Amino acid sequence: MEHTTEQLSGVQVIRERHSVRQYQKGVTIPEAELNELFELAGLAPSSWNLQHWRYLVVQDQANKEKLLPLSFGQQQVVDASVVVIVLGDLQANLVAEEVFAGAPAEIKERMVQQINGAYASNPQVARDEAIRNASLGAMQLMLAAKAKGYDSVPMGGFDPAGVVKEFGIPERYIPVMLLPIGKAQTPGRATERFPLDKIVIRERF
Ligand SMILES: Cc1cc2nc3c(=O)[nH]c(=O)nc-3n(C[C@H](O)[C@H](O)[C@H](O)COP(=O)(O)O)c2cc1C
Repeated sequence: MEHTTEQLSGVQVIRERHSVRQYQKGVTIPEAELNELFELAGLAPSSWNLQHWRYLVVQDQANKEKLLPLSFGQQQVVDASVVVIVLGDLQANLVAEEVFAGAPAEIKERMVQQINGAYASNPQVARDEAIRNASLGAMQLMLAAKAKGYDSVPMGGFDPAGVVKEFGIPERYIPVMLLPIGKAQTPGRATERFPLDKIVIRERF
């Protein structure tokens, strides 16, 4: 069922978000609206509030075309209004000082120490944290888009090294997902989900 955008409840946004792979061509998302989507996505939770997500916004048609071979010919990267390259910060510990700038000095020092300690403890931490937290940002961006009348599709099917090279992404950031956003040409269809007794484990295995 279609709803007027502002009328969607939180539950409806979740239930009616479906991956859309066919987009109306030539639709521009107004700058203010796009900024609102990123502002809403930015309210997602993150480890220590380090906000590991960065959103590389690809709107220029020629740049979207460059994504086509890098995503194995998935046409949605060309037709959607915008393709967001969701990046994860591999050095998010470096923003700890800034994040805790408003905290009492003692707390700030403790948090910065704790965060740097965690990042130094195991090289996998940085990558896990970047992907985990940027994925939460991506999810929130998809829900914000749906709430505002746009559709999206999360994409893991792309060549990360190629995207890094083509878009000059610094080593500090890992590409986590491509996220085309736009107006559906063909509505996404509801896909099946496992029953609760398969996905919910109570208390312990
Ligand atoms: C990490 C991830 C990677 C995905 N990669 C692609 C992709 O490369 N191309 C695509 O068309 N859909 C991709 N999808 C979309 C899934 O196929 C889709 O989410 C799933 O079938 C459930 O459908 P729904 O999103 O409509 O609920 C991806 C989804 C996720 C979460």
